Amino acid sequence: MAGCSVKQTLRGLAPSISVGVLTADLMRLGDDLAALDGTGVGVLHFDVMDGCFCPPMTFGPAFVKGVKTGLLKDVHLMIADPLTKIADYVAAGADILTVHLESEPTHIHRVLQALGGMANANDASRGIVRGLAITPGTPVGAIEPLLDDLDMVTLLAINPGWGGQKFIGSTVGRLAQTRALIGDRDILVCIDGGITRDNISSVAEIGADLVVTGSAVFDGKAPKSNARFMLDALRKKR
Ligand code: DX5
Ligand code: ZN
Repeated sequence: MAGCSVKQTLRGLAPSISVGVLTADLMRLGDDLAALDGTGVGVLHFDVMDGCFCPPMTFGPAFVKGVKTGLLKDVHLMIADPLTKIADYVAAGADILTVHLESEPTHIHRVLQALGGMANANDASRGIVRGLAITPGTPVGAIEPLLDDLDMVTLLAINPGWGGQKFIGSTVGRLAQTRALIGDRDILVCIDGGITRDNISSVAEIGADLVVTGSAVFDGKAPKSNARFMLDALRKKR
């Protein structure tokens, strides 16, 4: 899809999975990423945690930049004060950059505005998908004033901080509310967290454009067949 914006590429792939590197084997990251070749996976999810927004710390822009991949880099910032940090992640090659509505102390509208003025470091003609994430305790209606300044809404189906948590069932209704608020705007919807082999088919029914899946793919055993299974199930080929 050369020549397409990142957003158009995601639309073309939808529904699709964004595979989380959090549970990949960092000593064999190249092998784990190579396992995704030929599976149809087009997006790699980076969970950035700073020990402030949520307890764990993971990695920062140097890691995001250092990972060599042909996949789109989907960077999920679970950090405090994103306004002062988004430029570093853009420079690191984020194609999708998602910030949390709950981030402090920055006003999130200002963060999204700032992001809208930045160019994709990989290819300035492709744009950056501006993502807004909300945690399970935030009312969906809180996204409404921000809808003209974003490209993707991510509903966390778990509380931020850890892979391998259980999917929170209220996410299903929250996705329907999100779609209703979005109306006919050109905004993608993503679900992140708790998606497994057992529930991916029911998640497919609720109609997200992008589904983040970490531990169900990078389980230390069979990332290639896991990725194929998750993608096929999402696309209802199983
Ligand atoms: C949690 C992250 C998720 C999560 C996904 O804070 O945003 O991306 O790690 O991992 P699984 O698929 O294992 O829930
Ligand atoms: Zn995430």
